[in-house]
Amino acid sequence: MITFSGVTKQYPDGTTAVDNLDLQIEAGSFMVFVGPSGCGKTTSMRMINRMITPTEGRITVGGRDIADTDPVKLRLGIGYVIQSAGLLPHRTVVDNVATVPVLRGDSRRSARKAALAVLERVGLDPALASRYPGQLSGGQQQRVGVARALAANPPILLMDEPFSAVDPVVREDLQAEMQRLQAEMRKTIVFVTHDIDEAVKLGDRLAVFGPGGRLQQYDAPDTVLSAPATDFVASFVGRDRGYRGLSFRTADQVPLHMIRTATEKELPGLTLRQGEWALVVTDAGVPRGWIDVTGVERARAGHPVSECTAAGGSLFTPGADLRQALDATISSPSGIGVAVDGDGAVSGGMLGAEVIAKLAEQRATEDRMRGELYLAPEATSPDGS
Ligand SMILES: Nc1ncnc2c1ncn2[C@@H]1O[C@H](COP(=O)(O)OP(=O)(O)O)[C@@H](O)[C@H]1O
Ligand SMILES: [Mg+2]
Repeated sequence: MITFSGVTKQYPDGTTAVDNLDLQIEAGSFMVFVGPSGCGKTTSMRMINRMITPTEGRITVGGRDIADTDPVKLRLGIGYVIQSAGLLPHRTVVDNVATVPVLRGDSRRSARKAALAVLERVGLDPALASRYPGQLSGGQQQRVGVARALAANPPILLMDEPFSAVDPVVREDLQAEMQRLQAEMRKTIVFVTHDIDEAVKLGDRLAVFGPGGRLQQYDAPDTVLSAPATDFVASFVGRDRGYRGLSFRTADQVPLHMIRTATEKELPGLTLRQGEWALVVTDAGVPRGWIDVTGVERARAGHPVSECTAAGGSLFTPGADLRQALDATISSPSGIGVAVDGDGAVSGGMLGAEVIAKLAEQRATEDRMRGELYLAPEATSPDGS
């Protein structure tokens, strides 16, 4: 566990970067420091490994005051990943990853062997191990950065905007990789980001920082979205927070309807009325796009399928949440959200109105449960009445 008690950092020029921070970070949890630029996230994080010294207050790691711990020893137990990956340009990938174990006294040979295993663990092709960082893509460099931080197997991992400089698609891959790794490793992770979507996706807990380095809220992500503690948090989490909050709700009960489907071969014989849509599928039932009456005419005239269909919306995959259910319906040209099974074949269609109806039902249940909770003390009073 990491604790901050009354921690303040004031820089010599008078800037208060962090103002009286009290915070507990449970061992094995994924903690995200989130907030706009300049609100003290990096400063707070760097105080944990003594790269920055607090002006006031106390920080403990595993019950020990870090002021009494040798900084070099402290850092051996704390992996650190930064935005630019921070790799040594003149060392190969494998030697970059082996750096800390070698510093710690492992033989170069055993450190390299371990490094190869860690590279594989973060999803990097071992064939890249002998390259230099400049010969890798940004996303690959970030994976190497994560591998290097993990190489010494530290119980704590600090990550400062590690994925902010890569493109959105690679970023999603890296986020998914982090979730997978954390499910396996259960390290204590402190992750800094200015991106609320990233924070909500990754964090077990969010610490939302605001102006003057003041902590605004410390809560589970769904609570931050549904009950922002201050006006600052409400404006920071933004206009779409209701929509984002849907990602914490199950879509298990949303009804699935039969969808009208047709394979390429069946297209010429398909009859649709104006305004009706059918889903074109492969022989295995995988969606290829939606078709309406105009598209069918084009298919009859011999145009290839890709020129007759409108691109499909987002797909609802097994186990997905209400946000994905609603998005599938509103991004679909037909207004019908397409659910697929584990093999990618169509399993049914969802309607936006029914997704919203499920949301209303879930809220009604929650209201009822809150009501019962409120009445409970009387029902169980000590004298049994
Ligand atoms: N070395 C420094 N000297 C003076 N001010 C600094 C220094 N480092 C950061 N600051 C200031 O402290 C505040 C918090 O910075 P930082 O912790 O980097 O914020 P964040 O990571 O949230 O963007 C900012 O106002 C920043 O300008
Ligand atoms: Mg920062």
